[in-house]
Amino acid sequence: MINIAIDGPSGAGKSTVAKLVAKKLGITYLDTGAMYRVCALYATRMGADMDDEVQIKKLLPNISISFSGDGESKKVLLNGEDVSSQIREHHISKAASDISKLHCVRDFLVSQQRAIAATSDVVLDGRDITSNVLPDAEYKFFLTASVEVRAMRRYKELLARGENIDFEKVKSDIKDRDKNDSEREYAPLILTPDSTLIDSSDMTAEQVADTIISQINAKK
Ligand code: DC
Repeated sequence: MINIAIDGPSGAGKSTVAKLVAKKLGITYLDTGAMYRVCALYATRMGADMDDEVQIKKLLPNISISFSGDGESKKVLLNGEDVSSQIREHHISKAASDISKLHCVRDFLVSQQRAIAATSDVVLDGRDITSNVLPDAEYKFFLTASVEVRAMRRYKELLARGENIDFEKVKSDIKDRDKNDSEREYAPLILTPDSTLIDSSDMTAEQVADTIISQINAKK
């Protein structure tokens, strides 16, 4: 099986790049952040507190996450309902970062991610893929960009989605999420020594995807 692991902070362009790499190689793309977002959406709908592990743990058996379609038309499903757009709303980003601190949520999702990686050629992107989900993956990358660039990318995405939001707010929320995701106690975002670091601040997604593919080809 080919497993390509890509980690990095919010807005680094991981999902765009991972999708492109998957398309160019003709393999599957698994958006692990979407899985945390689905849990956060479900917990929000149930009125749960993202810090309350006892309460959240009880909800997990009711959450079934699946994906349908491919490429740009790929959909994320929560118990069969298409929630692709709802999980991208700004308030869900914060809720996903909060819920991802809980051991029960990570264990619930990591086991599903490992099962997918064991049975298919896949590009996975997230925060703990290189360090925790697939520490033995053959191809590991850490994708980052300056805070300014990441905030601008996220801001444009939210505007295109019709969300009315201030750039400075997006930037400060990105900084908060960086802190949340890197400083949490369980499986934080880290740059592992065996990952290739790519700073995409001045690169297009195509260029980053081609860099990743050429590194993979060089290693083969
Ligand atoms: O990549 P994203 O912004 O869609 O991820 C949403 C949140 O989910 C992120 O703030 C942290 C969490 N996450 C995680 O803890 N581990 C992953 N492998 C992927 C995402």
